[in-house]
Amino acid sequence: METRLVSASEPDFEGQVISLGAAVRRGEVVSFPTETVYGLGADGLNGDAVKKIYQAKGRPSDNPLILHVSGIAQAETVARSISPLERKLMNQFWPGPLTLVLPKSEQVPDETSAGLDTVGVRCPAHPAAQALIRAAGRPLAAPSANLSGKPSPTTAEGVMHDMKGRIFAVIDGGPCRIGLESTVISCAGGHIVIYRPGAVTLEELREFAPAEIDRAVLTGSSRPKAPGMKYRHYAPSAPLTVYVGHAEEVENKILTLAQEKAGKYGFFVSRETAARLPEGLPLFVWGRRGDHREMAHRLFEGLLYFNAHPVEQIIGEGTDTAGIGMAIMNRLTKASGYHIIIEETGSSVHPGEEERRES
Ligand code: TXA
Ligand code: MG
Repeated sequence: METRLVSASEPDFEGQVISLGAAVRRGEVVSFPTETVYGLGADGLNGDAVKKIYQAKGRPSDNPLILHVSGIAQAETVARSISPLERKLMNQFWPGPLTLVLPKSEQVPDETSAGLDTVGVRCPAHPAAQALIRAAGRPLAAPSANLSGKPSPTTAEGVMHDMKGRIFAVIDGGPCRIGLESTVISCAGGHIVIYRPGAVTLEELREFAPAEIDRAVLTGSSRPKAPGMKYRHYAPSAPLTVYVGHAEEVENKILTLAQEKAGKYGFFVSRETAARLPEGLPLFVWGRRGDHREMAHRLFEGLLYFNAHPVEQIIGEGTDTAGIGMAIMNRLTKASGYHIIIEETGSSVHPGEEERRES
């Protein structure tokens, strides 16, 4: 199949999106930009169309998809019920990067929910995503638009790299504003539990609903709640080890490695650390140290950088878990297969975590 590339900034995009919506209704898969990452969309109410998403990604079929809706009214058609707390959260954070896991209505096929009786629902903020949902007239089931196990694409070129020839079309809406995925939560039982940390932060949720935040997230319960979290995720082209801890010690450690392994290792580090490294190393300068917005924006680009610049091993510089730092470190932890070295103690956290391919 030849994959069409449609630019959202073309003057006739309004006309093009009508025909892409019709293609979705016929059961085709269309990739679209969101404010988080690019999605791989199909008619979320058509099980056969949804199967094509799993095929295009090579995704295990026990990992459910998120339904992208135009607003609360459409969410009501795919959820069996919406509690007052869930409605409050939708009003506050939609359109935006918050996915709520809700009891699913009969309209939602098992292919979308991977056989669960719940479904993840979110209303994306990107105008091209909204235009496609409206043109299709249905909620769009969509995972991130990468091959299973790879970093999530944040540009149309990134989607084309993984999906060219596998899907009907890609809408190019430019680079994604946030650059990492939505926060997935459940409010079952009246408490907010974070299944996957993301662009809406724990601090924002806690400030908005202090009484309802589940203590489990505060104590860092590590059992995966979102089915997708148990799989190996975001794997770059070479093994990744991430150093965290005292900034100066991390910097010194990375400098030593750069001197010992010149040319063999690639470095994915802050601007401050990069300034101390010898010239000419395979290097991705991530952003100012601690600038979490910039780091989130460039995270997946950095993991993909070493595809084109092959190395034996990638050395990453981690960050703290405040704000969106929690989601950044969650993705880096998975991308490294849990190879996180704390530079104050030299110990590795989460050793021996199961490594399975995932999406
Ligand atoms: O920002 C995003 O969320 C992007 C854009 C495209 O919207 N989508 C995305 O989808 O990241 P995906 O499929 O790559 O990740 C969805 C996550 C997975 O970890 C999945 O297991 C979890 O959400 N999830 C989906 N439905 C669920 C459910 N019913 N219960 C628990 N977790 C669920
Ligand atoms: Mg994904």
